[in-house]
Formats: sequence, structure tokens, C-alpha cells
Amino acid sequence: MADHCLKTSTPEPTRQCLIAQISDPHIKAGGKLSYRQVDTANALRQAISKLNQLTPRPDLVLISGDLVDFGHPDEYATFKKILADLALPVYLIPGNHDDRQHLRNAFPEHRYLFQHNDYLQWVVDDYPVRLVGLDSSVPDKPHGELSEESLQWLDKTLAAQPDKPTLVMVHHHPFVSGIDHMDRQPLKRPEALADVIGQHAQVERVLCGHLHRSIQARFANTLAMSCPGVSHQVSLDLTPDGPAHFQLEPPGYLLHHWSAASGMVTHQGFIDPYPGPFPFYDANGLID
Ligand SMILES: [Fe+2]
Repeated sequence: MADHCLKTSTPEPTRQCLIAQISDPHIKAGGKLSYRQVDTANALRQAISKLNQLTPRPDLVLISGDLVDFGHPDEYATFKKILADLALPVYLIPGNHDDRQHLRNAFPEHRYLFQHNDYLQWVVDDYPVRLVGLDSSVPDKPHGELSEESLQWLDKTLAAQPDKPTLVMVHHHPFVSGIDHMDRQPLKRPEALADVIGQHAQVERVLCGHLHRSIQARFANTLAMSCPGVSHQVSLDLTPDGPAHFQLEPPGYLLHHWSAASGMVTHQGFIDPYPGPFPFYDANGLID
């Protein structure tokens, strides 16, 4: 997988890894619209087309949960069919809309999903950046939780490679976003996760989905950030008791670029077409 990224003999200052992240595709089967409004299947197709055309080419793609809308097998079949067009390695975690067993059944070739019996938690060591996926889904509940066993596994896993830059991915946000209806379904006991993350300085980011928009917050000794939705975005409404609304803001993705020389830097890009690029300069210098 991603041979060009397995450059263990590459001189240290030039080692790098480019990681794309998309989130919350919420795929439905049979062309059905999510919430009677959103063509999530088409949105994921657009996102995949964008990711396939990125230059430089990402080494891998992370999808941070809510892969489908109601956890149904036919939704996973549709998701898998669309995902087949992605020309990059991809790693998945579940969100509150997912079903662990149906997800596993749909992706038997994604062997990392089978590292633990009960949870879809995993570690991938094939790249210069270590990838850790957590499973915060709670069957039939919108909030997230990490079991004591999962937290202990995370602690042990992170302790095994203290010097390797690491991304930890968990669907539910472990911080207060200020969007009230989403903060009623967060990762519960975030302090328990913070206690673990805080012990491991190599964690460059805690990457989330769930919030359907780009939000950053300090968390433990690192940065927690949520990824935009690949289709619909949760409304930016910071009023107390604001309604549970979404809107069709331009969907986006994150690009996490790690290099040995500069560390981890994260960019946000947009999926839909837009004008440009245009030059700043012509033959006479800065264009007036
Ligand atoms: Fe979602």
C-alpha cells in the first residue's frame, strides 16, 4: 500500500506524507436524498473526483465516520461502489450513523477494521505518519463514547511509538463546539481521552467528523479539528438552543501535510468548482 510513502531509507529532512481527510458522506441507497434535500451520493462522487485530481497526489485518504446514513447494508453497498473510483488508499472509521457489523461485512478486504473483536479501532504503521482510528459509535445513540478498554488500548498503542508523528481519528468531537444541538451529542468523557492523549506528545492532531464543518480547538497537548462535511454542513449558529439545521455551504476537505522539516500543517480546500487560479504578477510586476 502506498509504496512511495514507505521510504524508510529516504533522508530524514525530505521525508513527508500528504494525508487527505473527508467526512460524513451519509450515503443513502437507491438515489434517496438525505433529509429529503441532499444528494449525498453525488456529493461523494464530486469529492472523489477532486481528491483524484489533487497535485501533489495524497498518499492516503481518511474518512472520519458517518459513511452511510442509517447503517443499512444497501447503503454500504452504494458507498463501496462510489468509493471504488477513488484512486488512493483509504481508511475508514465509523460514526453514529454507521453499523459496525454491516460496515465490516461490506469491507472484508479492509483488514485493519478487524484488528479488534468488538470495536473498529485500529493502528496503521505503513506511512511516515502513524494513523490511529478510534470507534466512538454507540449503537442507536447520537453521542459518542470510548470504552475503558479502548482508552487503555490507545494508551498502549501510542506508548509503542513515542517518536513517530501520529494522527488520532475519532468521529465525535471531544470539545465544546458552541453549536448547541451538536454539543448535546459529543464524545462523552472527553477528559478521559485528554488524559491519554496528554501523555503522548507525538499526537499531532485529533481528527474528528460529526460537526460537518471545519472547527479547531486546543485539546490536551495537541490540536483537535473537525473536517467539513463532504455534502451538507451543520449551520454555523452559536445561539444557545439554536435549531438543529444544516445548510448547503460549499463542501470541503482537509489536507494534512507532514514533513520531517516542518512538522504537520493542515489546509482546508473546497470541492465545488470556483474561478481561478489567476496570477498576482505579470511582466511588469504586481498587477495594478
Ligand atoms: Fe454526520
